[in-house]
Amino acid sequence: MTVSKIPQHVAIIMDGNGRWAQQHGLPRIEGHRRGAEAVKRTLKAAQNNGVKNITLYAFSVENWNRPENEVNALMDLLEKFLQNQLPELIKRQIRLRVIGRYSELPEPIQDQLHKCEEATSEFTEYTLGLALNYGSRTEVVDAVKAIAQAAHAGVIDLNELDYEGFRAYLYTRDMPDPDLVIRTSGECRLSNFLLLQSAYAEIYLSTVLWPDFDETEFTKALTEYAARERRYGRTAEQLSS
Ligand code: IPE
Ligand code: IPE
Ligand code: MG
Repeated sequence: MTVSKIPQHVAIIMDGNGRWAQQHGLPRIEGHRRGAEAVKRTLKAAQNNGVKNITLYAFSVENWNRPENEVNALMDLLEKFLQNQLPELIKRQIRLRVIGRYSELPEPIQDQLHKCEEATSEFTEYTLGLALNYGSRTEVVDAVKAIAQAAHAGVIDLNELDYEGFRAYLYTRDMPDPDLVIRTSGECRLSNFLLLQSAYAEIYLSTVLWPDFDETEFTKALTEYAARERRYGRTAEQLSS
């Protein structure tokens, strides 16, 4: 694989924890617990393969609609995960960036996230984006509100605003757009994830359930990505000339 064919940014919709648990006769939360192990494997796989930016969809704005005990269990799991993984992030020099409506998360989680973001803020080579309480539509609404305020305050001139300017108001402003979006579990939808940022991303659908995701599956996605031709509206002939 040539270096230029390695995606700069891989975004993953980690799906299938519940079905994995069901298939193994276990409660759904056990699927989420195993899913956390898959996250650790994936972070290693990304670094092993030279992928500098990875964003993981961990909790959507719509996921609040799940049964309360599942939501609470997910939040507990997240808090423990952050506690355990901070030394690992520091060791691997990975910067953590949270994308989503931070302020609506439970306070202990917010504190933990702040701590992890601060402790890793100096790292510049690798970034882990964690999409928590994330939805593309709320992200766009938040951006539009902030832009309106900035325009009102005279900080920006709306006549000059282009997509690059707009992009600076998205949660993902300091990460490149994803080149590759992976969704596990065989579902074929984006579920409100990075809709604008994925405008030209390659999409890889894996039938593997998230708790079974590993480096082999990650490498398969990278290999397929390397074989894709990204045309950005041009013709294949234009690209080869
Ligand atoms: C993904 O697995 C984890 C979250 C959305 C938090 P699911 O819990 O959606 O698993 P399925 O889709 O029910 O199998
Ligand atoms: C998307 O998965 C959200 C996350 C992976 C965190 P869901 O399982 O919630 O998506 P839908 O409801 O099947 O579209
Ligand atoms: Mg699901």
